[in-house]
Amino acid sequence: MKVFITRRIPQEGMKILSQAGVCKVSLWDSDEPVPRAELLKGVAGAHGLLCLLSDKIDTEVLDAAGPNLKVISTLSVGFDHMAMDEIKKRGVRVGYTPDVLTDATAELTVALLLATARRLPEGVVEVKNGGWSTWKPLWLCGYGLSGSTVGVIGLGRIGMAIARRLKPFGVKRLLYSGRTAKSYAAEVEGEYVPLDTLVSESDFVVVSCALTPETQGLCNKDFFSKMKNTAVFINTSRGAVVNQEDLYQALSSGQIACAGLDVTTPEPLPTDHPLLTLNNCVVLPHIGSATYSTRGIMAELSANNLLAGLQGIDMPSELKF
Ligand code: NDP
Ligand code: DGY
Repeated sequence: MKVFITRRIPQEGMKILSQAGVCKVSLWDSDEPVPRAELLKGVAGAHGLLCLLSDKIDTEVLDAAGPNLKVISTLSVGFDHMAMDEIKKRGVRVGYTPDVLTDATAELTVALLLATARRLPEGVVEVKNGGWSTWKPLWLCGYGLSGSTVGVIGLGRIGMAIARRLKPFGVKRLLYSGRTAKSYAAEVEGEYVPLDTLVSESDFVVVSCALTPETQGLCNKDFFSKMKNTAVFINTSRGAVVNQEDLYQALSSGQIACAGLDVTTPEPLPTDHPLLTLNNCVVLPHIGSATYSTRGIMAELSANNLLAGLQGIDMPSELKF
């Protein structure tokens, strides 16, 4: 069977595929994204496709693949880059990588929250450029977690792992919103509240929901206008959950205190983007799951998902949709 892989992936995944001896692999052998034309060419006649979150898997790609296609395995837990309705219609199975990246992403979210709230990037720059003249009582002050209210939008696998990590910092109230209340929230004394309550009462708003038609643009002008002007906004889900023009206005006008983003629209964010002119906005290049071991395990899991899909057996992590 023929398999197309859209990028160089960690060798742990490649090894599994080559040792399995059930498929002939062709690979876009680069660290850069596959050009669209090469993707369409590479996928033609494939039985399996191993893709990344930066590959748009739409009707055109599915048509280019043709009727052989049995399985798509994405090296991500997010699946907003794939046309799920079309995929379902064609009876193609989908594998993804939940759980194995939860700890790494939660850890990065906490790091981004602290870096943003305590102004670490600004401090590092001041040390290097001579702006550090002496110890000053009000210089580079920020916001602390102790005694605070944290609001998590989307208390799923990653949202819960973030909550677990933040609680021991002395968080007083842990609010969360989503489509349904979660019994497991009791572990962090989480209070299920309407989104408006979360937004207006939180000192830290952390977005960790999936990108769906419902959550697209959720964090907009109206949303930011309800936040405290001392509040910190963090997004490690997907860039499109945020209206970036509205976020820029909220940050530059002092409507909210600061923001930390691991995800943007587009990615990469152009270097002349207005958000990058702001001292109170910390932007990272989508590195939530970027630890060596996590990426290796993601590659293994996506290779095993792919093989199971090709063989028509149970996948270690199949997306049910
Ligand atoms: P889960 O499916 O476990 O959690 C997603 C959460 O989103 C669910 O709790 C769900 O709530 C919530 N949600 C869905 N719709 C809404 C809504 N309308 N309003 C509020 N919440 C909603 O996924 P994970 O925790 O594993 O991953 C979450 C996302 O994180 C991924 O989809 C991906 O986009 C992103 N991600 C980013 C990474 C990075 O590198 N920055 C790394 C890994 C993931 P409910 O259960 O109530 O429906
Ligand atoms: C995902 O898996 O969805 C992340 O964005 C990258 O690990």
